[in-house]
Amino acid sequence: MATSPCIAVVGKGGVGKTTLAAFTLRYLLEKGVRPLLAIDADPSSCFGAVLGVEVEETVGGIREDTRSTAKGIPEDTPKQQYLALKVQQAVVEAQGFDFLAMGRPEGSGCYCFVNNVLRDHLDRLTTNYRASIIDCEAGLEHISRRTTRDVQVMILVADPTIKALDTLATILDLTSSLKTRVDCKLLLLNRIPAGMEEKVMEAARSRLDLYSFEAVGLVPQDSVIFNAELAGQSLLDISGEIASYQAYFHFLRSLQSDIAS
Ligand SMILES: Nc1ncnc2c1ncn2[C@@H]1O[C@H](COP(=O)(O)OP(=O)(O)OP(=O)(O)O)[C@@H](O)[C@H]1O
Ligand SMILES: [Mg+2]
Repeated sequence: MATSPCIAVVGKGGVGKTTLAAFTLRYLLEKGVRPLLAIDADPSSCFGAVLGVEVEETVGGIREDTRSTAKGIPEDTPKQQYLALKVQQAVVEAQGFDFLAMGRPEGSGCYCFVNNVLRDHLDRLTTNYRASIIDCEAGLEHISRRTTRDVQVMILVADPTIKALDTLATILDLTSSLKTRVDCKLLLLNRIPAGMEEKVMEAARSRLDLYSFEAVGLVPQDSVIFNAELAGQSLLDISGEIASYQAYFHFLRSLQSDIAS
């Protein structure tokens, strides 16, 4: 296992990726794993909100500004150095962790130089942390664009629908056909109505090879999470006593021991 593992949370839209990413961060913080980097790789950017973090600048914004007119770059500063500095400035320092929002993906045109510099810099940046947690955008884009590369832990999330399970099957196929390196895969079945656990497991078994996952977790539908969302409350602040958090916590114990120790 890498010394600075990267944990990516993937799945169909609306299944609970951001919620799980927030609880993963909370779990690791509670286990004393620091420093941590939380990365919002979803252009619609909600990860910051559930963590109580205010985002001013995104990597996408920096990429756009730098590529378009090179505006604002001091003449005596190499572009490479300037980009690295800007990304460093976009990292928000929060309580116990740092946060970086990737923002919108690139528009049309050639972004090769800027992207290469950014990728190198982000790869280097993550090595400063004990672990990074990436809240990925819904679907497959990030995998086909290869923004999700070499993750040590991929947490695949589905709600109890066939569409969500089939999206995970496609993500797994794409990941293996693109030879994305994934050391450990975990499956979380989220928002399970009470009494439906066995039925949901049956559906998951019929669509996915459950043996390919190091662990499978079930999290109940929980009105506390729903209410926290409506109240705009950070998921880092809600009670740890609630049933869903206990279930997330139990599931997250299966993260490789060298991340959580
Ligand atoms: N176990 C749960 N019980 C109740 N509500 C939940 C649970 N998990 C997530 N939710 C709620 O479901 C909604 C979608 O969750 P979330 O934003 O985490 O999904 P997502 O996969 O990140 O969505 P998107 O693809 O839009 O980014 C949110 O309102 C969240 O509060
Ligand atoms: Mg989300």
